[in-house]
Amino acid sequence: MINIKSNREIELLKIAGSIVYETHQYLKPFIKEGITTKELDQLAEDFIRSKGAIPSCKGYHGFPATLCTSVNEEVVHGIPGDRKLKNGDIISVDICACYKGYHGDSAWTYAVGEVSKEVSDLLKQTEEALYAGLAMVKPGNRIGDISNAVENVANKYHLGVVRELVGHGVGHNLHEAPDIPNYGKAGTGPLIKEGMVFAVEPMLNLGEADICMLDDGWTIETYDGSPSAHFEHTVVVTKDGYQILTGE
Ligand code: MF3
Ligand code: CO
Repeated sequence: MINIKSNREIELLKIAGSIVYETHQYLKPFIKEGITTKELDQLAEDFIRSKGAIPSCKGYHGFPATLCTSVNEEVVHGIPGDRKLKNGDIISVDICACYKGYHGDSAWTYAVGEVSKEVSDLLKQTEEALYAGLAMVKPGNRIGDISNAVENVANKYHLGVVRELVGHGVGHNLHEAPDIPNYGKAGTGPLIKEGMVFAVEPMLNLGEADICMLDDGWTIETYDGSPSAHFEHTVVVTKDGYQILTGE
């Protein structure tokens, strides 16, 4: 079942989303050569708590940190640690925060210093895929319309679409129905209705689509070692479209 949120719930989801957005803005200037992913994690946790929210990922199925920090060929769910960012790296920073029981979820992939042309294109193209998917979010459309729009952008640029991980509903739980795959057929899947809240999150690889999991039980990497990008917003379905909850 896909929950339709009440106005009160949407108000809380807006606050959670804006805390996630502010955390991204707060972290951005720190995403530089030399900082460790663990240092970024501590900054994010302190910031989120200072806003009266709780890091949703910490303790989620045993995940040990506030952020998922996924560098270069890491796709998602990287665990912050002693790795120092280097010039030319990319890092997906996935932030989830919970305010009065309601979650916000947004990932963005940042370039560290100067990155190659093909990697900076990967970032632009994955962001383009996110917005193409979001453009399909309106009452009367179906979840497959979002999936298909994301896949079309990935295909246009010959990027690998990660198939095992999907976008999702967001609310009182971080992950709710429906699943939102980044590939699929237009006109299929659940009907989109006003008051639903979704996270749309393309994960696109410069190489093949295949992924594998590291021994830490969390970090997902591309199988061929190619760089991967991840962009995600949480949005609420409005009368005639959507509003981004994790943006300005
Ligand atoms: N934003 C991530 C997702 O939607 C949240 C991961 S929390 C973790 O998958 F605990 F699983 F890392
Ligand atoms: Co998510």
